[in-house]
Amino acid sequence: MSTTTNLLLLLILSSSIQYSSADAGFIATTCNQTPHPAICVSILESEQQSFTAVNARALAWIAYNITATHTSGTLAVLNNLLALHDGEPIAAPMEVCVQLYGRAAEDLTVAGENMTVEAYVEAAKRVDDARGAAGLCEEAFGMEFPSPVTAENRVVNDDCSVTFDLLGMLSR
Ligand SMILES: *[C@@H]1O[C@H](CO)[C@@H](O)[C@H](O)[C@H]1NC(C)=O
Ligand SMILES: *[C@@H]1O[C@H](CO)[C@@H](O)[C@H](O)[C@H]1NC(C)=O
Repeated sequence: MSTTTNLLLLLILSSSIQYSSADAGFIATTCNQTPHPAICVSILESEQQSFTAVNARALAWIAYNITATHTSGTLAVLNNLLALHDGEPIAAPMEVCVQLYGRAAEDLTVAGENMTVEAYVEAAKRVDDARGAAGLCEEAFGMEFPSPVTAENRVVNDDCSVTFDLLGMLSR
């Protein structure tokens, strides 16, 4: 390879490195303006799309998508568990959780509709309601039964919290 080609390669390489670190930088800069920066970065970086997001609104949509996916996933897990434990005492708190998560999924659908018209305050309120479902579901199991969805509840709680924070930032 000629020196010119090498130089060209080096230039391309260094500019692409700068590009990707600038993108991770944008996620960090955005998350640093929210109350829970570390979890915000960790959730957003779990989605490859975040690295090409050009504004905070795009990041809020990605957080929202992650939240909606995990919420409907948890609802599916709960429905499967309920089918497995039909008629057993532990089915009672599972049913409570299915109802809570069903409502959370609806809240998130409305939140998404509100986000499309940039009604961020209203959207944030719905996302906060959805977050409540995770805590109430965990509590529904109480001391009597070990919760089979502790990890899922924690994930949805954190997803909602980060989405809520980003929507709060957009509504300022
Ligand atoms: C969110 O999800 C929808 C449908 O699942 C998809 O069309 C859209 O591109 C996603 N947007 C972002 C920002 O991830
Ligand atoms: C939020 O979305 C719901 C459902 O589409 C709608 O009824 C409500 O008016 C919206 N609120 C705002 C402030 O846009």
